[in-house]
Amino acid sequence: MYAKRLLWQETGNDELLAEAADILRAGGLVAIPTETVYGLAADATNGEAVARIFEAKGRPRFNPLIAHVADTAMAGRCGELKGDALRLAAHFWPGPLTLVVPLAVPSGGPLAGEPVVHPLVTAGQKSIALRRPIGPTAELIARFGRPLAAPSANRSGQLSPTRAGHVLEQLGDRIDAVIDAGPCTVGLESTIVAISDEGPRLLRPGGLAAEAIEELLDRRLRRLAPGAHVEAPGMLASHYAPRAALRLNATRVEAGEALLAFGEKAPENAAAAVVSRNLSVTGDLVEAASRLFSDLHALDESGAAVIAVAPIPAHGLGEAIADRLRRAAAPRPGPASSG
Ligand code: TXA
Ligand code: MG
Repeated sequence: MYAKRLLWQETGNDELLAEAADILRAGGLVAIPTETVYGLAADATNGEAVARIFEAKGRPRFNPLIAHVADTAMAGRCGELKGDALRLAAHFWPGPLTLVVPLAVPSGGPLAGEPVVHPLVTAGQKSIALRRPIGPTAELIARFGRPLAAPSANRSGQLSPTRAGHVLEQLGDRIDAVIDAGPCTVGLESTIVAISDEGPRLLRPGGLAAEAIEELLDRRLRRLAPGAHVEAPGMLASHYAPRAALRLNATRVEAGEALLAFGEKAPENAAAAVVSRNLSVTGDLVEAASRLFSDLHALDESGAAVIAVAPIPAHGLGEAIADRLRRAAAPRPGPASSG
């Protein structure tokens, strides 16, 4: 596979948009131009498509991803957009501002009880990062009708791309297409602000000056402590960890445990599990990644004190899965912890 370059024109982009939307609908990856940097996009509601983003980037971790939306109405279906978040969206969108807000869970209709985006987008957290970009991508999302999950379109550890050519150099053999709309005008990632009951907080400085945000809200943004690792704010505090303890690399299930299996070979004594899930019966790591967070949630809800986790291969997305499982298994500080 080599990525197709879709050249954005001043007018008459109907066919291009239809082609890109078709790729996304089929679960493919399309690199998208935004005013900040090029993003690597997949259908945010399709877990396997989102897992392919991590695979293509060679990212060893499941950082939560920004859900890109076409307008405020779409944003409001994905996250709780009110108060300061709504004021910031009304004033600075479309633009280089990402808002982290509580994840919305529809209370009625066919989607009741389920967030709009797949749990891999939010890394299983109860918050979601939302951004409405400037340019062709907003048109693509409107046409596609669903939010797009997209990190910057670089290989893990490399520079963020500000031209389609950069994307092709790094990812050309790993993605389906890139929409080439020329160089990015801002060239720096979006500013990320988290809105919660404790007030607005700057998670990542970026293309929109923090002062402009402070002026609009007429208050100072709280900031991360100097020296804190700001590159991946999603990896800090609020990451989802199950209540149950995790026992990794389990080749045998003990009575009363829940089981997270992988592959077609069941661990010894699997029948003793109070409840079990299989990340991928066929041993497909992309499928496994797309199921990781929802399966952990389901097993945790069973009330079992321990989740036995079968060994996961260490290659490809297996590395990110293992990283996530190690974090979930690590002893946690706080009153609920017994050490
Ligand atoms: O300008 C940008 O923001 C570009 C373009 C493509 O939109 N995207 C981008 O994505 O820079 P990425 O994945 O490289 O950086 C997004 C950051 C990550 O550090 C992630 O941890 C954080 O956003 N993030 C995403 N969801 C979050 C959440 N729910 N809570 C806290 N941080 C979150
Ligand atoms: Mg990045």
